[in-house]
Amino acid sequence: MSDETDQLTAAMGNHPRRDFIFYAASGTGAVTASAGLWPLINSLNPSADVRGMSSVDVDLSDVELGQRITVKWRGRPVFIWRRAAADIAEARATPLEDLVDPVDRASENPNLTGEMPALDRNRSVDEAGEWLVVIGICTHLGCVPLGQSGGSVGKWGGWFCPCHGSHYDRSGRIRKGPAPRNLDIPPTAFVGDLLLRIG
Ligand code: FES
Repeated sequence: MSDETDQLTAAMGNHPRRDFIFYAASGTGAVTASAGLWPLINSLNPSADVRGMSSVDVDLSDVELGQRITVKWRGRPVFIWRRAAADIAEARATPLEDLVDPVDRASENPNLTGEMPALDRNRSVDEAGEWLVVIGICTHLGCVPLGQSGGSVGKWGGWFCPCHGSHYDRSGRIRKGPAPRNLDIPPTAFVGDLLLRIG
């Protein structure tokens, strides 16, 4: 099990189950669904068959500019956001000095080699920054933040965790609140025209 998974699993295990919110999703397409309380913490821990699914391919061809969708990978919600130019510009204009967690490690973003500055260009899938993909689990105690299909996007325009008030910016970086780290990023790569492989 990876460090990232260990951290997330530990966080989930320490938190009351009523605080978990989950946007239902599909691993194979552009799907969003309504929010609700996640009834069982263990449901966010991958079952044996899901753990076996090391990667999912997501067809993004129907995702419109500005749209956010949620898919499921290894039992966890993954937030995909096709960002508009203004959102990319805002995320890329943020100085590292303004960040609570200015360094991403390979355990937090496996698309990196070693430690890298938490610059938006190091966190987005494509060079232009149109596609941002993050694991939708708050790094404080494991709630699923709002903002993906409704609810507050927080003061920095990304996501807001209602459990204890963490604000994430347009790059999924923690900007205010008790969460200690930026949202984790899954392994991602485009394997076809707008076909994204996660895992
Ligand atoms: S779980 Fe505490 S702020 Fe998100």
